Amino acid sequence: MRLAMLGPPGAGKGTQARMLAQEFGIPQISTGDLLREAARRHSATGLEAKRYMERGLLVPDELVLKIVTERMKEDDAAKGFILDGFPRTQTQAQALDEILSSKNQKLRRVMVLEVSDEVIIKRICGRRVCKNCGAMYHVIFDPPRNADLCNQCNGELYQREDDNEDTVRMRLEQYALDIKPLLQYYEKKGILARIDASGPIADVQRLVMTAVEGEVKSA
Ligand code: AP5
Repeated sequence: MRLAMLGPPGAGKGTQARMLAQEFGIPQISTGDLLREAARRHSATGLEAKRYMERGLLVPDELVLKIVTERMKEDDAAKGFILDGFPRTQTQAQALDEILSSKNQKLRRVMVLEVSDEVIIKRICGRRVCKNCGAMYHVIFDPPRNADLCNQCNGELYQREDDNEDTVRMRLEQYALDIKPLLQYYEKKGILARIDASGPIADVQRLVMTAVEGEVKSA
């Protein structure tokens, strides 16, 4: 099963993609996580990407495509994956289609999580992430049992560098610039599902599962 999860920053893409990955036993491929990991390793790609990420701008297509193409070749992605935050431009969407069609594969469902800017700012400013396993929390909406430690692995929780109101506003502006043509692209293909992601995590999860199961029955 090959799925993609789109939506503005803080809409809950990572939270929902992680749950789907556990449910279906396929990897979550988050371009944001891949780029942050590359930056942590001080690779040339990572260091260049960091300059854009810090300012809330999109990383150039060729860098993102390089990193995501490599990841999709790994063994665990052979049976499928959930793309989280990718594609974000038409160039990325077309390149993805080319990669998949060269293997006789295609994306089955693209889900876009829709939430107001006001909710997004609240979600992002309270987000905490585990340094060790990447699990996500929110200080109010999904708090860890211990304020500074991950429920799953006891790892230390931290706040992402780009999780501040100024950068979030820039990320929102950037999202608004690119999203319309991308949604039209997938609407035309008949694989787009729009999901109201303003409710609690469990409610959004039910909507996401319904969208995915709809695809599974018709596949
Ligand atoms: P990326 O890491 O993808 O960031 P983003 O798109 O801004 O999305 P976020 O990770 O901030 O949010 P999310 O939607 O995953 O929400 P989450 O589940 O964490 O990208 C970062 C940067 O990398 C970009 O700005 C860009 O520079 C670059 N980049 C990445 N991909 C790229 C690409 N393809 N092309 C070019 N550049 C790229 O949830 C947020 C918080 O809310 C959490 O605390 C969570 O617990 C909570 N929460 C989630 N759902 C709910 C709910 N329903 N109710 C209440 N709280 C909730």
